[in-house]
Amino acid sequence: MVESGTLSSALEREHREIDEGIETFVAGLAEGREDTTPLKRAIEGLRRHIYLEEEFLFPPLREAGMMAPIFVMLREHGEIWQAMDRLDAEIGKGVAADPVRGLCAELLDRLEQHNSKEEPIIYPQADSVLTPEATDHLQRFLASGRIPEGWVCGRAKA
Ligand SMILES: [Fe+2]
Ligand SMILES: [Fe+2]
Repeated sequence: MVESGTLSSALEREHREIDEGIETFVAGLAEGREDTTPLKRAIEGLRRHIYLEEEFLFPPLREAGMMAPIFVMLREHGEIWQAMDRLDAEIGKGVAADPVRGLCAELLDRLEQHNSKEEPIIYPQADSVLTPEATDHLQRFLASGRIPEGWVCGRAKA
């Protein structure tokens, strides 16, 4: 077991780390710094976070009957994923541009909307529904797993 604390606390920690990465970048921009490292790390972490939720967390919860809340989470993942794609494209053009600030604000807002439902509704179920094996697998992935090359969030493809 790699477990250190509950799944919900580990997943919530990822939410905070991702938010902090985006916020650090935005605060830097305001001070004239254009270091994209914290933003790129946050985007990379968020893509992996969405992957692990969709591959390892949501399927057992859906089987346990949480169809409607998972449906909403997947739709929002698609929107968040597309917001990250737009941000990646803008960063490629240069970070001083206003669109980058606006897209960061949009992404933070979407994450707030998403996480404020996911944390109280979905994550507590994760702690009670997942088998010890599934929990252990997810804990291991959180510790050192990598998103497969080229994986794209299903709802972002449309
Ligand atoms: Fe999510
Ligand atoms: Fe999440």
